[in-house]
Amino acid sequence: MIVSPSILSADFGRLDQDIEMINRSEAGWIHCDVMDGVFVPNISFGFPVIEAVARKARKPLDVHLMIVNPQNYVSQVRDCGAEIMNVHQEACVHLHRTVQAIKDAGMKAAVTLNPATPVETLVDILPDLYMVLLMSVNPGFGGQKYIVRTADKVRRLRAMIAEAGSDTLIQVDGGINLDTVRLVAEAGADSVVAGSAVFKSTDPEAYIRELARY
Ligand code: DX5
Ligand code: ZN
Repeated sequence: MIVSPSILSADFGRLDQDIEMINRSEAGWIHCDVMDGVFVPNISFGFPVIEAVARKARKPLDVHLMIVNPQNYVSQVRDCGAEIMNVHQEACVHLHRTVQAIKDAGMKAAVTLNPATPVETLVDILPDLYMVLLMSVNPGFGGQKYIVRTADKVRRLRAMIAEAGSDTLIQVDGGINLDTVRLVAEAGADSVVAGSAVFKSTDPEAYIRELARY
């Protein structure tokens, strides 16, 4: 399991120490949650913070944009050091164009689906995607409860990917801990995002190691 700890739950007063912890850990990526107060009812952080993370990070940055008009920020996301640029399907009228722009900018293109958006909406674009992120909470806040039906979406998406003969990865984000990771791992997820479970744990590095075992 590729673990992508979300710095949304990190201590921003000592972000460098939390990044160092992720660097030392078995995490695969570092998940950066950008919220604009329009697409989601919350505001998190933007490019200056991502740049600061990129300067310290020794793992690729997985940037999850919970914003309207993400197509307007492709070069800025690239310039601040993202490896994966992840946009919401619900925020993109011209999703195919946005995905191509992300790839043309030299990044890996990922698309996120909200809990109520069916995986079938991506059938015609799947082979173009490095990764699909299935939200297992409604985006906007850390620390919410995992929505149980997500594992079924993972299974349906896994079958679609096999059918397409694609190597698109499946990531799950929201309410992931050592209980819920098992459910999405069994359903065929390749990666999980974990925020509060990691950063509230007494030993975040060990917690990441436990998640990565799945
Ligand atoms: C929610 C964000 C998540 C969040 C996950 O809108 O996309 O990445 O940080 O937090 P937990 O793991 O606490 O649910
Ligand atoms: Zn996220």
